[in-house]
Amino acid sequence: MVNKVIVGAQWGDEGKAKITDLMSANADLIIRYQGGCNAGHTVVVNGKTFKFHLIPSGILYSGKTCFLGAGIVLHPETFQKEITDLKEQGISLSTLKISPLAAVTMPYHIELDGANEKKAGKNKIGTTGKGIGPTYTDKISRHGIRVEDLFSKDILGIKIEDAISRFDLKTTKSELMEKCSEYAEILSPYVDFNWQSTLRKFKSKKLLFEGAQGIMLDIDYGTYPYVTSSNPIGGGACVGSGYGPKMIDEVIGVSKAYITRVGEGPFITELDNEIGTKIREIGHEFGTTTGRPRRCGWFDGVVARYGVLVGGLTQMAITKLDVFDTFDEIKLCVAYKDTRNGNIMYDYPTNAFEHKYFEPVYETHAGWMQDISNCKSFDELPQNAKKYIKRLEEIFEIPIKIVSVGADREQTILL
Ligand code: IMP
Repeated sequence: MVNKVIVGAQWGDEGKAKITDLMSANADLIIRYQGGCNAGHTVVVNGKTFKFHLIPSGILYSGKTCFLGAGIVLHPETFQKEITDLKEQGISLSTLKISPLAAVTMPYHIELDGANEKKAGKNKIGTTGKGIGPTYTDKISRHGIRVEDLFSKDILGIKIEDAISRFDLKTTKSELMEKCSEYAEILSPYVDFNWQSTLRKFKSKKLLFEGAQGIMLDIDYGTYPYVTSSNPIGGGACVGSGYGPKMIDEVIGVSKAYITRVGEGPFITELDNEIGTKIREIGHEFGTTTGRPRRCGWFDGVVARYGVLVGGLTQMAITKLDVFDTFDEIKLCVAYKDTRNGNIMYDYPTNAFEHKYFEPVYETHAGWMQDISNCKSFDELPQNAKKYIKRLEEIFEIPIKIVSVGADREQTILL
């Protein structure tokens, strides 16, 4: 039995959904353990595109149980839109379950997210505007509304009064109570009040833990404060699911053959030039959730090594290798140079405000200049593509087990 966690090894958008989709075929229970509808996961099956924000893409397989764990934040209206879209595409949601312990994003959290960003001006984080930070802040400060509270009018009333006074809201208690009863109605078919039995039942089965965002957006280990408010790292899977560390056998890091980032914050290998634009256009690097153009750059080996360490990664999946098909030259960052003293650094500098002093140290690889999107095995890849993958593996110091050469489920090479 091999229980796996899927973790984004960069700043999110690594193509985790495709890997989760592949792994879901062999899983019995798929658990999303953190984040909320800030995530956007796209899966292409036989040319048909499915978009997910909160619901594990494993729902595409019939009979797999999908569980939204205690570590997630849930905005019921966005959730409703997602389930409606999936139902319209013929997807059954009968095996979808929500933890009653998950945090609810209230309308005031979304307003606050926007207001905080506006107030921060040039120091803004560049959030997705989905209320993620304020929802988690309420949870950690022990004021949050949990899914289970929506079904308990007394508790809910107290919590809503508390929110009205803390945030000085113009909305009345009865308006918010009304909103919450709508939320309860939306969620009630899915809330698993017997979640302890569910977790016990699946303890001896195959588990797949699905992370959102990426290690470099982790609240503790990412480029703080330019991060999200949860723990996408492998360790987050335990906290957010209710299963202990011994339940995890492998942690699969997902990394693009290059790097992207949305929102503000340091990005040492960023290409603010025509090469970055070329990557963005070929890789369709525009946000699934916000439509924002993603910042693009060369693969960063310092981020890679750091991610393996703090993310607890044991294997890698490399996605979007085909984006480089028309590049005659590919650069790869192997270290940073500290321009203050000329020191070469292999460890990630965690103070985001000092990143302006670091320059990438690159090695240059020859491209393969041919279409690899139909390659079905590692041997079929051109020599230079193989060399690039092997070099990435040396940097990660853990095996690369999957290489993705296109969006479709079929365009995947297993090593
Ligand atoms: P928040 O999670 O909306 O608070 O945004 C905080 C930071 O995380 C911003 O830089 C966002 O662009 C980034 N972020 C949040 N979710 C995702 C995601 O799913 N993919 C990529 N970046 C994300």
